[in-house]
Formats: sequence, C-alpha cells, structure tokens
Amino acid sequence: MPDLSNLKKAAAEKAVDSYVEDGMTVGLGTGSTAYFAILRVGELVAQGYKLRCVATSQQTEDIARQHGIEIADIDGVDSIDVTIDGADEIDPHLNLIKGLGGALLREKIVAAATVAEVIVADETKLVEKLGTKAPLPVEVCRFGHGKTSYGLARNGCQPTLRMKDGEPFVSDGGNYIYDCRFPDGIEKPYFMQSAIDTIPGVVECGLFLNCAVSAVIAHSDGTIEERKA
Ligand code: A5P
Repeated sequence: MPDLSNLKKAAAEKAVDSYVEDGMTVGLGTGSTAYFAILRVGELVAQGYKLRCVATSQQTEDIARQHGIEIADIDGVDSIDVTIDGADEIDPHLNLIKGLGGALLREKIVAAATVAEVIVADETKLVEKLGTKAPLPVEVCRFGHGKTSYGLARNGCQPTLRMKDGEPFVSDGGNYIYDCRFPDGIEKPYFMQSAIDTIPGVVECGLFLNCAVSAVIAHSDGTIEERKA
C-alpha cells in the first residue's frame, strides 16, 4: 500500500481552505484524512479565526484540544455550517460508506445537523458500487448482538464482529460494530439501509446516503478534484 498521507493532507487542507470561514460552526471528522483537516482548523484558530467546533469522536476531540481548538457540545449549537469528514467508499452519486474508524454513530448525528457535509479522501476511496472494497460497518447494541448479526446476514452479507486487542471493539457510544462483507457489493443502497435499520438491535448503519454536498479527492497525479452532489 503506497503512503497516501500526502494525498489525504492535500484534500483535507483544500477543503478547509475552501469551506471554512471566520465565525462558522464547524464539524470535525474522524480518521486519518480528517486528521489533517483538524490540524488546518487549528492553524486558522491560531491565526485568530473565531470558530465553534464540534467533534465526531472522542479521538477527534482529543486531537482538536491538543491543537488549540475548543470543542462545543453539539446540543449547544443550533446547526453546523460545515463538517469536513473522511469516508471509506464514495460512489458516483457521493453516497458513502463510513465507519471503519468506528465513529459512524456520532458522524451521522453530526452530519444530520450539518448544512454542508464535505468529504475529504484520496482517490483509493472512489468506487463504482458501494461495498465492493470496504465492508459496511453496522453499530449494534451489545445485548443480543449475535441475534442482531443473524438479521444482518439475512440481507446477503457476512457480518464479522470487530475486535480490538482480543476483545470486541467498543464504540464511543458503548456499542459493538459488525463489519458486513457483501460478496457482490451493495446493489440498492437505499433499500439496504432501510432493511438494516429495521433489524432490532441495530443502532446505526454506515451507509451515508444523500448526505455529502461535496467530495474533495486528491489524486496520485497531483491533481485535486472536487465532486459536487
Ligand atoms: C470513521 O469512523 C470513519 O467514518 C472515517 O471517516 C473513515 O473511516 C475514513 O477514515 P480514513 O480517512 O482514515 O480512511
């Protein structure tokens, strides 16, 4: 796997410079690409920008504070002007799979309160069909999670309980995550989201449909492309 850090940094900085203005309320995403956006926002704050920021994970909150960014309670802000976040897959309609970093629940809550959800990514995240490269993360209640996984499997995927250090991974919300592999990708993402959302025990699904207004993609040839919904 080539080192994609330069591409992630280029996309993240371009998005912050294009979308973040003094006085805005800004959502800070989670993951290795959003990390560079947090650093850029930290630079703007150091330059004197007055921003209100909300975080999509505890990890992001910690990184932001280390870089001089104060984090507001999401319930203390009316709406979020722009959120800059990463993605695991981006299809031609800017529908997304998110959550390999384990933050899908807070990411979706923040996205739902956001006017402009801007995705930052390197070119490896582009797919023709969702579910062809990445598994679909689904956050589930711990109680009866095995039963919930049967419900997931009935939708044509192979769900695997995410592990960390030999134990089930626990999200910021205190839940487990199943990574669901679809052998042929996800044919109808909207139907799949509805089907998954109705399974008892499902807390949140990593499909982010009709959510992003823009995706800033860095390519290995040095170009940065912006795709708009
Ligand atoms: C976090 O839960 C995810 O949704 C991330 O936004 C996503 O996994 C992208 O992360 P990277 O930028 O590290 O690939």
